[in-house]
Amino acid sequence: MHVTEVRSQKSNISLIGFMGTGKSSVGPILAIMLKKSFVELDAEIEKVAGQSISDIFASSGEGQFRKIEKEILVKVLDHENIVLSCGGGVILDAKNRTILKKRSIVVWLNADAKVITERLMDNKSRPLLAENVMESVSKLLKERIGFYRETSEVMVRTNGMETSQVALNIAEKIGAKYGI
Ligand code: S3P
Repeated sequence: MHVTEVRSQKSNISLIGFMGTGKSSVGPILAIMLKKSFVELDAEIEKVAGQSISDIFASSGEGQFRKIEKEILVKVLDHENIVLSCGGGVILDAKNRTILKKRSIVVWLNADAKVITERLMDNKSRPLLAENVMESVSKLLKERIGFYRETSEVMVRTNGMETSQVALNIAEKIGAKYGI
């Protein structure tokens, strides 16, 4: 079977990208457009852990959060026909990158550090940005950008774009590439 035929059989779409790039707001709209179910990885983690993401970081640390994130990612991607919004750090783990690519069409929501910083300035819920938002965004984005690039097959810029515009743009790009 040709590679493109294998790819076109993927029914899941995963949204990856840095915090504040719009994954959680774009996901539900994209899911409606494509008649798929929306799943938010962080919300699934909170359900399983019985704690908010901030509380998991505070009580058990980032390592424990990443462990739960990895377990839930594998379970969630066992489903078909979902739009999955992932936390910004999901691509840090090599196995996560592999399963994302294997089980879904991965879409990277990309935005400039300046735009992300503006969007997250009043952030209260992201433990990794607790100190200095501008510095943390630049540093983490630099560390992660290569992973977002290597994991995704479709990239959409979200600077200054409305949520529905981003969803439409993704649907068009995926449609053009895979005919879905
Ligand atoms: C994280 C991003 C968050 C959440 C956690 C860690 C990260 O999700 O998973 O705070 O490492 O970038 P969002 O990208 O939805 O904010």
